[in-house]
Amino acid sequence: MKKTHILLVLFAVVSMAGIMGFVLNKDATANGTTFDPRVEKLLAQMTLEEKIGQMTLYTTDWGSTGPTIREGYKNDIRKGNCGALFNSHTTAFTRELQRIAVEETRLHIPLIFGYDVIHGYKTIFPIPLGEAASWDLAAIEKSARVAGTEASAAGLHWTFAPMVDVSRDPRWGRVMEGAGEDTWLGCRIAEARVRGFQGKGIGQTDAVMACVKHYAGYGAGTAGRDYNTVDMSERFFRDYYLPPYEAAVKAGAATVMTSFNDYDGVPATGNKYLLTDILRNEWGFKGFVVTDYTSINEMVLHGVVANEKEAGELAVNAGVDMDMQSAAYQRFLAQSVKEGKVPMQAIDDAVRRILQAKFDLGLFDDPYKFCDTDREKKTILSAEHRAAARDVSRKSIVLLKNERNVLPLNRNQKVALIGPLADNKTELIGNWCAAGNFNDCVSLREGLRSAGIQTTYAKGCELDGHDKSGFAEAVKIAKAADVIVVAIGEKAQMSGEAASRTELNLPGVQEELVQELAGTGKPVVVVLMNGRPLVFPQLIGSASAILEAWWLGTETGNALTDVLLGEYNPSGKLPMSFPRSVGQVPVFYNEKSTGRPYDPNSKWTTQYIDSPNSPQYPFGFGLSYTTFEYDEPKVNRTTFKKGQTLQVLVNVKNTGSRDGEEVVQLYIRDLIGSVTRPVKELKGFQKVMIPAGQSKEIRFTITDQELSFYRRDMSFGSEPGDFDLMIGGNSAELKSVRVTMTE
Ligand code: BGC
Repeated sequence: MKKTHILLVLFAVVSMAGIMGFVLNKDATANGTTFDPRVEKLLAQMTLEEKIGQMTLYTTDWGSTGPTIREGYKNDIRKGNCGALFNSHTTAFTRELQRIAVEETRLHIPLIFGYDVIHGYKTIFPIPLGEAASWDLAAIEKSARVAGTEASAAGLHWTFAPMVDVSRDPRWGRVMEGAGEDTWLGCRIAEARVRGFQGKGIGQTDAVMACVKHYAGYGAGTAGRDYNTVDMSERFFRDYYLPPYEAAVKAGAATVMTSFNDYDGVPATGNKYLLTDILRNEWGFKGFVVTDYTSINEMVLHGVVANEKEAGELAVNAGVDMDMQSAAYQRFLAQSVKEGKVPMQAIDDAVRRILQAKFDLGLFDDPYKFCDTDREKKTILSAEHRAAARDVSRKSIVLLKNERNVLPLNRNQKVALIGPLADNKTELIGNWCAAGNFNDCVSLREGLRSAGIQTTYAKGCELDGHDKSGFAEAVKIAKAADVIVVAIGEKAQMSGEAASRTELNLPGVQEELVQELAGTGKPVVVVLMNGRPLVFPQLIGSASAILEAWWLGTETGNALTDVLLGEYNPSGKLPMSFPRSVGQVPVFYNEKSTGRPYDPNSKWTTQYIDSPNSPQYPFGFGLSYTTFEYDEPKVNRTTFKKGQTLQVLVNVKNTGSRDGEEVVQLYIRDLIGSVTRPVKELKGFQKVMIPAGQSKEIRFTITDQELSFYRRDMSFGSEPGDFDLMIGGNSAELKSVRVTMTE
């Protein structure tokens, strides 16, 4: 065929495509994303101001999750000033707002409704840190599935979750929202939660878009203070902090939220390296990026731009598609485009991504698709959802101590139920509890009562303050009982956003109360409810048993009763190390050897003069009502070639008299690397039920991926040499086998 003929044919095809309303990839963005043809059609009709409206997200007055609120959001919708709203839910409310958007605006573009559905919408599940303690990915996925089902039944399209920020600092209040200190566990949980929220896919009426946050490194704020600066080497950042965001993106998360912090001197919201080079170009993220609350404006105070107009330019040019609550885009972006400071292509790409999400959700076909009042009534807080919450809740409880098998309780024992959280409901749903209502919660006292356990009750003291006037009554009922169950902890608002602490103690006189009770000589079972690892040295001495129950949510009392009575054998394991003192923070399991590893016989090695290096309770730790014994692990070959897979097997025996679940954990150490490597890193786990007296063989397959890291030259891969493969029931008690990788 002659050249001119080829050109003619091509021209005809392109024209036909145009007439039929589809586009031959000509509107693809820089990273090759293709869009629904209707996106292009709509984009072609939009004014610059309408485009910027789509790039703007405002809160309603239904709740405030940040320092500013915006009056007059209904007018914003009418004027096309915003394309999405948050803190707006229920079918009635979202229907009313959606009607304004589709009936009163020129182009009738529907709105997206978002909300922080972090651990449940109305049926509240354990806080994410608590759920992480279940090490049960199916249960975690189920929790997000229920949350997604309820949220979408309440008119929502979008949740600002999962939060996947790795954190080694329990002073940071937001550790409650994440999966704890470990990168590998964090990746698996991030994936499970994305799958759960998004269900069978965006567009299903029971799914919501996930939003991975806070990208990136927010959990590493200096000194554990919220919003604080983050700085670390890129190697460290890539090895430990970035992988969970990547895992969530690869699991299909529809959106990503930027973080408040700076990284390497550049605020995340204006960080092109993070938002374009890594997120889009390295990971191939195709969805849209939203900022955190007013984080565009905050770049002025970070001191990298002179005013909010420049802040908007920095954000959009870095790769931010949607401005949450700063109104910087709405106020200045049109001007910036006219001045040539922001290319029109950047605006168009952002709008394409946002419109595509609206098409994916099916909102152009039916803007009221998620406004079915019958479904809302039937779905929310259903018996099935409560049952799921009870199941996940009991799996999240960690047994830290159980002297002389004081637990489980025996139904004939006289129980004195004591403590500020024993008969409390208001705190149980924890922070970030969405539309959760504490009146729907089952308190511990109610849970025991409905299981037929009669208790005597005294509050003893408040969660904080110095008042000990309730001690006497508490001691009195304790003396008349066979066993004391005392529920203490933090206030729910002591963790979460803007809730960093310098002390990790139990507030007020709670620890003293436990000591007084222990003075009666009766066994004391402590139930802790809190949003972070705490430090409680006296408690460890005085309590016979300790259950870490986090904030368990709606089914708290039932789940705790199941565990206290042994109807459920606890199986949770800590997703974060519990320090001995604040001075040890950050204390975490995957540390490096140093050139002077700790040696008790030498002063000149890495250690404190006033404390052991080890935490009080290590990462991965948790007891059961039964006991497990590990054999030495075995491998299918001790020498293997780079790229070959390796099998490691271990026999685990339930040596007690009860059936129980164990989280069998695999850690790996690369003995010699081109850069220093941690003394151990979690690279696999299996949660298995082992009947009393029986054994199970657990098998892990290790691929090159588990042995890889950022090498000296920053390439990602493994290096031949020796590796220790370590298996056990927590990060501090492991049995190991050595293997060698050859070229
Ligand atoms: C928080 C985000 C949250 C947003 C919207 C911010 O203050 O940092 O995690 O999604 O508010 O409520």
